[in-house]
Amino acid sequence: MDHKGFFLTFEGGEGSGKSTQLRRLAKRMQQAGRKVRVTREPGGTPAAEALRAALLSGEAKALGPLAEACLFASARADHVRQLIRPALRQGQDVLCDRFIDSTRAYQGGAGVTDEQLELLEEIALAGLRPNLTLLLDLDVEEGMARADARRQSGRPDRFEADRMKDHEKRRQAFLRIARGEPDRFAIIDASLSADAVEEAIATVVSERLGIALSAERKGAAAP
Ligand code: TYD
Repeated sequence: MDHKGFFLTFEGGEGSGKSTQLRRLAKRMQQAGRKVRVTREPGGTPAAEALRAALLSGEAKALGPLAEACLFASARADHVRQLIRPALRQGQDVLCDRFIDSTRAYQGGAGVTDEQLELLEEIALAGLRPNLTLLLDLDVEEGMARADARRQSGRPDRFEADRMKDHEKRRQAFLRIARGEPDRFAIIDASLSADAVEEAIATVVSERLGIALSAERKGAAAP
């Protein structure tokens, strides 16, 4: 490992509560004295955010799943080079909302082969690997209902708009990937209350990374 900070990624389906839990963990790690950088994919740098817009609007959909995977990987290469690796080298912990496993589950599920995915990872990551990946696992119908409620009147994005069967396929793909790499992954039951999920994540992070996170004080949790 050529860096001092920890690299944590959050993965899961639509409406699994990743972003809320990422913010809550960031706060607790900061309270424990860690320097924390929060980021997301696709995105995190100006160039990657521009690709995000093209990917989530559906503008790139006509190119097909392999070209979309290449665009996710291009965004990721910039993100890793410009933001993630420099932050880790400076000793900051990086918390990233989605990373390689989303490409494996979403674009892999759409027909991009394992060999192609591995090649893209090699190019984009240049040897970097998350220290810990938290998979927030949730029943697909419940996740979509939560995502619909959150979105209110806005339209679903390119990937949210896919059929239920695709979302189920992604859930199973995430679980398969996680079970194949038990040292990197922790599977979190995201059907529990937000406070209970937060506690479960804090326990895993303390145990796996040796970061002491104090028990949450009543009323101190982020919304
Ligand atoms: P976002 O609004 O960040 O979704 P969420 O709140 O569910 O995390 O949109 C990201 C979308 O892009 C999401 O539907 C998953 C998809 N995606 C991929 O298909 N491949 C990828 O490699 C990544 C990072 C995201």
